[in-house]
Amino acid sequence: MDRELIARLAHADHPVNSPLDDESVRRLLQRTVGPGEQRVLDLGCGEAAWLLRALAARTDVTAEGVDTSAQLLAKARQEAVEQGVGQRLVLHRHDAAEFVSTRPFDAVLCVGATHAFGGLLPTLDAAAAHLAPGGRVLVGDAYWECEPTAEARELLGEYEDLATTVERVVAHGWTPVHGHISTRRELDDFEWCWTGSLAAWALEHPEDPDSAEVLAVASAHRSEWLRSYRDSFGFVTLVLRRTSECPDQ
Ligand SMILES: C[S@@+](CC[C@H](N)C(=O)[O-])C[C@H]1O[C@@H](n2cnc3c(N)ncnc32)[C@H](O)[C@@H]1O
Repeated sequence: MDRELIARLAHADHPVNSPLDDESVRRLLQRTVGPGEQRVLDLGCGEAAWLLRALAARTDVTAEGVDTSAQLLAKARQEAVEQGVGQRLVLHRHDAAEFVSTRPFDAVLCVGATHAFGGLLPTLDAAAAHLAPGGRVLVGDAYWECEPTAEARELLGEYEDLATTVERVVAHGWTPVHGHISTRRELDDFEWCWTGSLAAWALEHPEDPDSAEVLAVASAHRSEWLRSYRDSFGFVTLVLRRTSECPDQ
């Protein structure tokens, strides 16, 4: 079965491929993308939902997105053309950890893709390498809301609690200038959209050879979420500046 089909279907019904609603995405972008001409980079951009929103909101923004998925990038390109922002968006099919650009960016985004760099702090190191002086980073990552089950750790990996997560970011040389903690509703919506879109597609395409397997994937994922990690999984998105550049530090 095509895993990219699953990824594409699973997020067809949600503003971005991370547990944030429309208003949260809008507010975080507003805090991240500064005034005037701005160059924005998204590492692990998927369908480039964050970049498309930034481009639609402001004509003085240009953007580049990096992802390993050809299908998601093709969808991003198609959307950009349909929305009339295609000329301001460059997409790279590349491992984000090895992406190199000759010019720095005013804003660097990495939401829900820190695994591409081996975790939150290495992601910030990679973002710093792309960032122009005074630039901002928008990073979204998981944390544990309470002690996770062994199964949750096995499924999702190792994280810290929220306070420790933010303290580690600060100790690493960054200052949060804004942030958003995904609400219970955003977290639940994300999972219902994930499993619901897949299940609906399977029910609507009974003749497709992948139908039964897609329904089984939706069902297994829903059980893992409800049984293993719904209570312990949290998601925080931080707008960061380098501490040494903040005048009040
Ligand atoms: C959870 S999605 C988040 C997408 C997007 N940031 C958003 O919030 O809508 C994670 C993305 O990271 C991409 N990805 C995973 N490993 C990667 C890598 N090594 N380099 C670039 N992209 C990667 C996946 O293809 C996927 O699109």
